[in-house]
Amino acid sequence: MTDSIRALIAGNWKMNGLEAQLGEAEAIAAALASEPARARVALCPPATLISRMAQRLKGGAVEIGAQDIAAQASGAFTGDVSAAMVADAGARLVILGHSERRALHGEDDAEVARKVEAALACGLEPIVCVGETLDQRQAGRAAAIVRGQVEASLPPALKAHAFCVAYEPVWAIGTGLTPSSAEIAALHADIRAALVERLGDTGRRAPILYGGSVKPANAAEILALPEVGGALVGGASLTAADFLPIIRAV
Ligand code: 13P
Repeated sequence: MTDSIRALIAGNWKMNGLEAQLGEAEAIAAALASEPARARVALCPPATLISRMAQRLKGGAVEIGAQDIAAQASGAFTGDVSAAMVADAGARLVILGHSERRALHGEDDAEVARKVEAALACGLEPIVCVGETLDQRQAGRAAAIVRGQVEASLPPALKAHAFCVAYEPVWAIGTGLTPSSAEIAALHADIRAALVERLGDTGRRAPILYGGSVKPANAAEILALPEVGGALVGGASLTAADFLPIIRAV
């Protein structure tokens, strides 16, 4: 981990969570209240829970994030939710360009970049996701694909804002598979170089999170790698029992 950057451990609940699940979020917040974490901690519940989670965790150490926003500010976009809406509900961060959005909803880099701009306009801190598929990795193209995503998904406007990048190899998400430590370190170094080239000093300071099958058992090793500035955690963020040891691994 790079010393000057405070790590972020963010939980992405994806399409999981009803009212009853808020007890897990409260248990995480209560544990951090009695023993503060070294890392920043965020939970990104489904849009329906943002407001209730923000109210229940108000004043505590857990920041709330959204999982997506529309690129547009308002208007005739049935079913979509804007940056202003999630900010109004209590979100301070937003995950953008997650591979599930890219693959299942056809989001390309240009749309992700527009969403980043929409997020910044409402004061949200974007967590911009990049990552290669298994085919791309096996073809030796992982670094090139990820560099292309960084260059095309991150608008120059980010120079003046706090943001994170999350490196999530698609084949590691929800599979229990992870790249080797050397592979993670290599990709994170590539992403850092691309960030600095594109955004100068701001690109030096942005945490680069790793995501994809982060669990209590592998968190410490992954989080200790150079240029790994935290984690974006799916399945293991749904319970306090799994998420807390990952937070404590920083
Ligand atoms: P898992 O931790 O469940 O593999 O999910 C990773 C992810 O996609 C987080 O955004």
